[in-house]
Amino acid sequence: MYRSHNCGELQMKQSGTKVTLAGWVQKVRDKGFMIWVDLRDRYGLTQLIFDEERTSKVIMDKAKTLGREFVIQVTGTVIERASKNPNLPTGDIEILVSELNILNEAKLPPFTIEDETDGGEELRMQYRYLDIRRNPVKESLIFRHKVTQEVRNYLSNQDFIEVETPYLIKSTPEGARDFVVPSRMNEGQFYALPQSPQTFKQLLMVGGMDKYFQIVKCFRDEDLRADRQPEFTQIDCEMAFVEQEDILNVFEGLTRHLLKEINGVSVDKFPRMLFDDAMRLYGNDKPDIRFGMKFGELNEVAQHKDFNVFNSAELVVGIAVPGAASYTRKEIDKLIDWVKRPQVGALGMVYVKCNEDGTFKSSVDKFYDQDDLAKWAEVTGAKKGDLICVLSGDTNKVRTQLSALRMELAERLGLRKPDEFAPLWVIDFPLLELDEETGHYHAMHHPFTSPKPGQIELLDTDPGAVKANAYDLVLNGNEIGGGSIRIHDKETQAIMFKHLGFTEEEAKAQFGFLMDAFEYGAPPHGGLAFGLDRLVAILGGQETIRDFIAFPKNNSGRDVMIDAPAPIDDDQLKELSLKLNLKS
Ligand code: AMO
Repeated sequence: MYRSHNCGELQMKQSGTKVTLAGWVQKVRDKGFMIWVDLRDRYGLTQLIFDEERTSKVIMDKAKTLGREFVIQVTGTVIERASKNPNLPTGDIEILVSELNILNEAKLPPFTIEDETDGGEELRMQYRYLDIRRNPVKESLIFRHKVTQEVRNYLSNQDFIEVETPYLIKSTPEGARDFVVPSRMNEGQFYALPQSPQTFKQLLMVGGMDKYFQIVKCFRDEDLRADRQPEFTQIDCEMAFVEQEDILNVFEGLTRHLLKEINGVSVDKFPRMLFDDAMRLYGNDKPDIRFGMKFGELNEVAQHKDFNVFNSAELVVGIAVPGAASYTRKEIDKLIDWVKRPQVGALGMVYVKCNEDGTFKSSVDKFYDQDDLAKWAEVTGAKKGDLICVLSGDTNKVRTQLSALRMELAERLGLRKPDEFAPLWVIDFPLLELDEETGHYHAMHHPFTSPKPGQIELLDTDPGAVKANAYDLVLNGNEIGGGSIRIHDKETQAIMFKHLGFTEEEAKAQFGFLMDAFEYGAPPHGGLAFGLDRLVAILGGQETIRDFIAFPKNNSGRDVMIDAPAPIDDDQLKELSLKLNLKS
């Protein structure tokens, strides 16, 4: 038996008991005649004491050889500590060691393995197994486990069946590039790793599984961001004989359950917002509604004066920043520089200070009088003491820019509180999205999403206006899930493929299996997938998903610990009938 207890559980009530512990040496304090060691395992820290008067010389000498991260086993007696540590569950006791067994020595770790570490991000990723020993990372992984466990329990209790679907498949169109895997046995042919199990879960509905879920890895070759990894995990779900309302209710239930069980937070019925309203009022499809600063469209009150910048703009739109009228000229200039950064891309920013005495001071006083500015304040909901920030230009661009400014200001003003939760359904997404570069439409969600009833005819005349039975679940300004009611008949699916630019042959080659299945009694069905990594990070009060993934990739999509991706040798290439054609 390696241990009788773990390092996080011993207290005064075990005083006098003989115990055996095993773990890692976190810290050694050697006073010569007395040595203290902090022993760590997953469960906590326990202080060990070696004392010249009470510990044998052999053990004392051995203790002097201990270094950080040595793996040891000790036996000793639980005694009351002379100076207690109220911050530690085991802080009242220490172990007077009578036996010490060094199970493994350790090289000096490249960074300190404590809550606050001196290791940079890249170094910690390279030695991720050491980083995992630190409380913050360890706690994040345990937190993820709890969330996952709750999800499994909740969905199982609701009659969902977890079914595994294959990883070696054919391309699934979720909008990113595929990771591909060459097939040795089928020369010149490739599998694609699933961007999601979308088609399989639909086939499971045709198969009569009725309610399916899977906690599943998905793979997308896309640019990385704080909330994106090339391989990530979905809670993927599908239900048969449902309408949008049923799906929203079930998964609102799951989210509410998680907020309650994991965070102890009760939330009312989730608000719903039309996609068009989200764009108009917040400039993006995943608004953070923990705070206001809604967009006020100012075309009517700001155009047709002598200010040509606004007159020539498609959209003039502003937000009222609470309490920011006190910003100095320098602070405002900094803000203007911020919106002009290439990442945001605004050409400039007009501002209005709403003074406490009811007057206005703006950067465009030459063109607008006090009455004009009072109307701006009315439209943006600005109060005395607020600062109105106004951007103008092409509608889509200016919305994105003002949305970025809104989030940045909210962050600076401390309005994005991590322990406050504001879930929101965004519904009625457009079915299609115009790719500005190619001029072609592609599916906004994916090609299996059904148009709203009665809108299919619009596909011929005004494709961009067709709305879909598609919805996203947004939590604190992050898209944590998305889904749709699917097309379940061959004809509609064929029309959809046609509008997405597939020829009949192409559609058959890529999705013939699904179209065939639709001919054998496909039930009406729909579903959704949560991004588990995102969900966990946000419930954990953070937005970087990397911290909640045991072995994440870095910003270039590399695993710096195992050094992947890596070249493969010539024999392996030959076996796969592959020839590299690299530019040197
Ligand atoms: P979608 O593409 O919206 O839908 O993905 C569902 C959710 O997965 C998360 N997500 C990601 N998380 C981390 N890294 C990524 N690279 C990444 N990409 C997506 C997001 C997102 O909301 N098959 C459909 C679902 C359906 O229709 O049922 C799908 O995959 O939180």
